[in-house]
Amino acid sequence: MNNFHYINPTQICFGRGEIAALGGLVPTSARLLVLYGGGSIKTNGVYEQLEQALSHHQWHGFGGITANPEFDVLMQAVELVRRERIDYLLAVGGGSVIDGAKFVAAAACFEGQSPWALLEGARVEAALPLGCVLTLPATGSESNPVAVISRGDAKLSFRHPLLQPGFAILDPSVTFTLPPRQVGNGVVDAFVHVLEQYLTYPVQADVQDRLAEGLLLALLENGPRALSEPDNYEVRANIMWAASLALNGLIGRGVPHDWSTHAIGHQLTALYGLDHAQSLAVVLPSLLRAQARSKQDKLIQLGRRVWQSSREDTALQIEESILRIEGFFRQMGVATRLGDYGLGEPAIAAVCSNLKRFGLIRLGEHGDLDPERVARILAQAL
Ligand code: NZQ
Ligand code: ZN
Repeated sequence: MNNFHYINPTQICFGRGEIAALGGLVPTSARLLVLYGGGSIKTNGVYEQLEQALSHHQWHGFGGITANPEFDVLMQAVELVRRERIDYLLAVGGGSVIDGAKFVAAAACFEGQSPWALLEGARVEAALPLGCVLTLPATGSESNPVAVISRGDAKLSFRHPLLQPGFAILDPSVTFTLPPRQVGNGVVDAFVHVLEQYLTYPVQADVQDRLAEGLLLALLENGPRALSEPDNYEVRANIMWAASLALNGLIGRGVPHDWSTHAIGHQLTALYGLDHAQSLAVVLPSLLRAQARSKQDKLIQLGRRVWQSSREDTALQIEESILRIEGFFRQMGVATRLGDYGLGEPAIAAVCSNLKRFGLIRLGEHGDLDPERVARILAQAL
């Protein structure tokens, strides 16, 4: 096991009715801005719960944060923050709204020329405090210090401990209104987060491996049930907690990571608008086949421990693990080929050119994935 430091300071309030706890979590003296998305919270009862919980607070609202939050929209929120001297942010939504709020928190305190510099490596020196109410289990953004922001055909991330939400309210019953596409997306995204911290090479990290395998099993068991039994609270609760633990820092401490599927997938989203999880479902299976040799021990362990498969032949065992992953994505309604999204050959060159543009030229746990190899991987995903 590798050395590590671990802290996760986000207070989690989990369960039915927990939005009512907001009143005690946000200081009543705060000048509060509530950020939300395209309107789902106005039709599913979440907004009313907010109004009730914050009835003793003074607050402004900022709606219209889109999926894959856009810099230009977020800058309007930054203006509002400055104009109204806002000193506390509350994000209410999925990963896009929470990431957007993290950007606003840092951008409002940024003293350089354009806050876009934060995405290009400028240091976060200060940020407004932030809490969140999660409505879509997927990204883990509710209890991690990362934000992913889009601007035209650029989709970049930044991270800083100051971006970590102080609290996160996770009420599984607010996810009953998710359309099946977002249920599938969320489960696939969380599943890939676990795999990108697990499918590398063994470092005798038994605890992290067993935690990861447990989360994968929970997602495999509950994901399809969320589609077939959409009103089942316990199913929703297990998905919500699994997705949060998948990317709150815990399972990734002390082990190697491979975020190459995310790095490549972000280009597909930025260039062609694929949903985040769709982009991952396209990239991961081909990438695993291309990297099967260096990942073979973990691919075999995955098949044995998660699907109880016991093939003697190493190559067959590895292929079975990859086929199982791919099959699960499809079962969750997320297609796995570029062609399924109307994309062909030209997309491959465009993705590789974007990777070069952003310096993403040595991906993977061994830094051995350059844009030429990425092109071959994507060609296998046509
Ligand atoms: O905008 P509204 O009307 O709220 O609708 C949203 C949106 O259209 C809808 N939705 C959310 N909760 C709902 C609901 N509809 C009905 N009922 C509810 N309870 O779902 C749609 C998608 O929402 P979005 O927030 O975009 O989805 P997700 O949570 O999957 O977030 C994706 C974003 O997070 C980034 C992705 O790149 C993408 O930009 N990620 C952030 C990460 C992080 N911060 O650590 C890591 C991830 O790997 C990921 O990259
Ligand atoms: Zn993701």
